[in-house]
Amino acid sequence: MKGLILSGGKGTRMRPITHTAAKQLLPVANKPILFYAVEAIKEAGIKEIGIIISPETGQDVRDIVGNGERWDLHIEYIVQDEPRGLAHAVKTARPFLGDSTFVMYLGDNLIKDGVKPLVDRFNAGNADSLILLKEVANPSSFGVAQLNGNGRILCLEEKPANPKSNLALVGVYLFNKNIHTAIDEIKPSRRGELEITDAIQRLIDTKFHVESHTLSNWWLDTGKKDDMLEANRVVLDEMSEFVMQGTLEGNTLISGRVRVGEGSVLRNCTVRGPAVIGNNCILEDSYVGPFTAIGDGARVSQAEIEHSILRENCQIKNFNGRIVDSLIGVNVELMRSQHKPVAYKFMLGDDSKVEVV
Ligand code: DAU
Repeated sequence: MKGLILSGGKGTRMRPITHTAAKQLLPVANKPILFYAVEAIKEAGIKEIGIIISPETGQDVRDIVGNGERWDLHIEYIVQDEPRGLAHAVKTARPFLGDSTFVMYLGDNLIKDGVKPLVDRFNAGNADSLILLKEVANPSSFGVAQLNGNGRILCLEEKPANPKSNLALVGVYLFNKNIHTAIDEIKPSRRGELEITDAIQRLIDTKFHVESHTLSNWWLDTGKKDDMLEANRVVLDEMSEFVMQGTLEGNTLISGRVRVGEGSVLRNCTVRGPAVIGNNCILEDSYVGPFTAIGDGARVSQAEIEHSILRENCQIKNFNGRIVDSLIGVNVELMRSQHKPVAYKFMLGDDSKVEVV
């Protein structure tokens, strides 16, 4: 079995953060989302992974993920010229996939249970496809499945205005080679994309065997800022270990599950976990609250930060304020000169400069 991770697309919903970077490289608990997909596939015993990339952000993905050596995997890159749909991505990957069975994993999805149990079930059974479902409050934002009383799939629809159920299609799918014929037989949807949802529906219509599994644990699609913060919250919440590789100076207090990376200095700070602070950060006279991830090389002084993601090398200087529910890009500089007790919510792209006066 092979793995196929989709890391192309345009990431328009995460702009301005993704003007300069692939959304699948955004960090959750200081690790690129894409790494969670690679690790889940590795854990299922798969050794060969193809990653779909776009011409715009593909080089970044290659640079950051590499050839798989660090995971003892073989990783190949497949360029999809334009994001013409998930089924189009599979079509583009056909030379890599050959006639192999494969697990397809959307590079912006995270699932708690990983994929090993599903891969084992698929390999042991005789289904042509196994799809994952999850009950959601907003099914119109997803592919939606309708099941009969016995749990058999009746039909699938992509982002329907009037969903027939609250069961969303999760971005992890298992297929055998019959999916390629189904993809060859479908037409682009109203939004002009070759939908994997339509290809699976085609499998059902042509009497192939499609099974479903409904997840009971969490699944996150990190398409928007609040989804990213939620993913960060959930992953940090599950972090079990306390790791202190940095230096604590002055009156610094740490409580709860906190990870501080090498070369980082915390001076007169209070950190309340779960939180993660990367390598080579300097934090002074600041408070870091629960569900916060601070990237490598960050500088923070006189600020309170909670439930936020600060990316690498950002600088929050003499801020004298509180930052909550925020996603702050690489190299952002944020400073403030007055002393007013206020709260801010930010979504700032890489290299932004903001001065609150
Ligand atoms: O997250 C689950 C949902 O994912 C499913 O419920 C939907 O049925 C499925 O269509 C998909 O919907 P999204 O609108 O969330 O897909 P998105 O365009 O965000 O693409 C998902 C991933 O695949 C993302 O990492 C970008 C990548 N991609 C997307 C397209 C359209 C590609 O690599 N190539 C593409 O052509």
